Amino acid sequence: MSSSQKDSSLLPPRILNGSKKEEEINYDNSLRPRSLDEYIGQESIRENLRVFIKAAKIRGEALDHVLLNGPPGLGKTTLAFCLATEMGSGIKATSGPAIERQIDLLVLLKNLQQGDILFIDEIHRLSRVVEEILYPAMEDFVFDRVVGKGTRAKSRRIPLPRFTLIGATTRGGMISSPMRDRFGINFNLSFYTNEDLKKIVTRSAGIVNTKISEEGAFEIASRSRGTPRIANRLLRRVRDYAMVEGLDIIDREISDRALERMGIDVNGLDEIDRRILECLVIRFNGKPVGIDTLAAYVQEEPSNLEEIYEPFLLKMGYMAKTPRGRIAAPEAFKFFGKKPAGEYCEQGLLEI
Ligand code: ADE
Repeated sequence: MSSSQKDSSLLPPRILNGSKKEEEINYDNSLRPRSLDEYIGQESIRENLRVFIKAAKIRGEALDHVLLNGPPGLGKTTLAFCLATEMGSGIKATSGPAIERQIDLLVLLKNLQQGDILFIDEIHRLSRVVEEILYPAMEDFVFDRVVGKGTRAKSRRIPLPRFTLIGATTRGGMISSPMRDRFGINFNLSFYTNEDLKKIVTRSAGIVNTKISEEGAFEIASRSRGTPRIANRLLRRVRDYAMVEGLDIIDREISDRALERMGIDVNGLDEIDRRILECLVIRFNGKPVGIDTLAAYVQEEPSNLEEIYEPFLLKMGYMAKTPRGRIAAPEAFKFFGKKPAGEYCEQGLLEI
């Protein structure tokens, strides 16, 4: 790492690519915090990261590789960009499926400078070939390029700059153990508290020059499924309603009215969530349901159910997973004003 890189900590990171994917990754850029001080929530992760950053800086080394796991919208990309700011390094962002061939990875890695960060979103979707070529790159900062085929194949070793790989995944369980073992820093992001989301909504409202009351911010926060991305999205929609109604402040009433009209209930459940609960409670009466059956019932992709909907429903006690399938948990029965029944009770999971 050069001295100028060290000195530039807390300047926004250099963003090294301008592809369409980057636009996607940079969605909501204006609302994103740029440093760990601006980042709200995930306290323990932030405090640990501060120590690792400080130690890496004292040693004058790149930060160790970081794996971030958690449901979508919790701020994994944001955290990666904050780390780049804190380290004073450049960051290049891509995603697992975008790296199709070994050469794609080589180009990315060769263009990094010492201490730069390579951010790979959806790292669980890397192909096996690319994953294997990443191992020596992460461990020894070399790229083993195979040239030629069959008995004439030769491996050429290409040196790489010392870089930091930050991998993000919504499916921690799909990361192979050799891959996981190569990350020195491994964090699971958790859902945000309503208080933290309220702070995020208030901060975002300030950035887009919108007045919001504490109660208004809390109303949006408590319906955002513990997820900043959802909170910021709901804030924008509530702001539309407030604007159209000629209100100069977002208060609890307009938040409530707008969210109700968007079909988002007091716990943040939307139409798809309700259909999931209906399937588990009404259609199957608490018996186990396979993911494909559930997906067909609610007309969603199974992967969307697993990645987007289920984590929150599991966390909030609406559903549980068993080896035989998904089952309704007590909150789901309560939702329909019914007494818990089926597998959850039979398995003795219910404390009576
Ligand atoms: N916007 C989105 N996520 C955020 C976070 N964790 N802290 C502050 N602002 C945010």
